[in-house]
Amino acid sequence: MYNFSYINPTKLIFGAGQIEKLKTELPADAKILIVYGGGSIKHNGVYQQIINALQGFEYLEFSGIEPNPHYETCMEAVEIIRREQINFLLAAGGGSVIDAAKFMAAAALFKGDDPWQIVEQGLSIESALPLCTVLTLPATGSEMNGNSVITRDADRNKLGWGSLKVYPVFSILDPETTYTLPPKQIGNGVVDTFVHTTEQYLTFATDAKLQDGFAETILRTLIAEGPKALQTPRDYNVRANLMFASTMALNGLIGTGVPQDWATHGIGHELTARYGLDHGQTLAIVLPGALTVLREQKGEKIAQCGRNVFGINEQNIDTQIDKTISAIENFFEEMGISTHLSQYGITEEAADAVSARLAERGWLLGEKQNITPQMVKTILLLRK
Ligand code: NZQ
Ligand code: ZN
Repeated sequence: MYNFSYINPTKLIFGAGQIEKLKTELPADAKILIVYGGGSIKHNGVYQQIINALQGFEYLEFSGIEPNPHYETCMEAVEIIRREQINFLLAAGGGSVIDAAKFMAAAALFKGDDPWQIVEQGLSIESALPLCTVLTLPATGSEMNGNSVITRDADRNKLGWGSLKVYPVFSILDPETTYTLPPKQIGNGVVDTFVHTTEQYLTFATDAKLQDGFAETILRTLIAEGPKALQTPRDYNVRANLMFASTMALNGLIGTGVPQDWATHGIGHELTARYGLDHGQTLAIVLPGALTVLREQKGEKIAQCGRNVFGINEQNIDTQIDKTISAIENFFEEMGISTHLSQYGITEEAADAVSARLAERGWLLGEKQNITPQMVKTILLLRK
């Protein structure tokens, strides 16, 4: 196991009916900006619950955060935050809304000329406004981490950044808020959580038994509960298990002391930036290809995943690896998320385009930083 330090300052408030806790968790002098997306919170009662809880608080609203949130939209909110002297952000929605609020929190106090530098150069920020979240889509883990992924629409640049300063102060997770998710978003969320786990688990063995065990439990939970969420959308326990799994998959815990990959995410962001695919869809396409191309390097952990997660026990290591990769792909399909570029109407031109973009960025990917743009091309050609 590698050395590590671990901190997670976010308070989690979990369960049905917990949105009303906003009134006790928010500071009395908070001047709040409620940040939300395209309006799903208005259709499922979340908005009304928030407004009820904010009786007596001073607040404004900013809506219209798009999936894969735009820098340009965030900067409109930053204007309002500065002008109205907002001192607390409340993000209500999925990862896009939360990531946008994190960027606003940092940009509002940024002293330099161009806040895009926070994203592009990963500038370490000195301060950020406090924020809290009401999560409605279990997927990204953004409710309990310091990461944010922002797209600059002007040049379709989708990049991640992060800071300890933008961990939410608290996050409210009411599984009932997820009953209204369309099947596609249920699938996206399960795939995203699955791949967050594999990015920190399907690397090479470091004898980190606790981290491996946590990761395997998250994966088994997704496999057991994910399909049930599609079949019986209003099953509370199913939603609760999925919601907690997604938070735990990317709040830093399972990644402590172990190598981390993130190549599937790196390639996936380029596919979203260029073709507009949902984040979860890109991961379902890329992961089986990445595991296939890296089967030597990752073989021991892929075989372990097959045994401990899918119950595959082949004597021959190659068969074990093949069957495990197929089982992962089949699970994504079972969740309703297609795993090949052609199923989204994207041709093999994507392989060249994404590989060229990564070459331009000068990035090498993966836990050994040995995935070259040429290998990315090979991965995507396997997924046409
Ligand atoms: O905009 P609204 O109207 O709220 O609708 C959203 C949106 O259209 C809808 N939705 C959310 N909750 C709902 C609901 N519809 C009905 N009922 C509900 N309860 O779902 C759609 C997608 O929402 P979005 O927030 O975009 O999805 P997700 O949570 O998957 O977030 C994706 C973004 O997060 C980034 C991705 O790259 C992408 O930009 N990620 C952030 C990470 C992080 N901060 O740690 C890590 C991830 O790997 C990921 O990169
Ligand atoms: Zn993700």
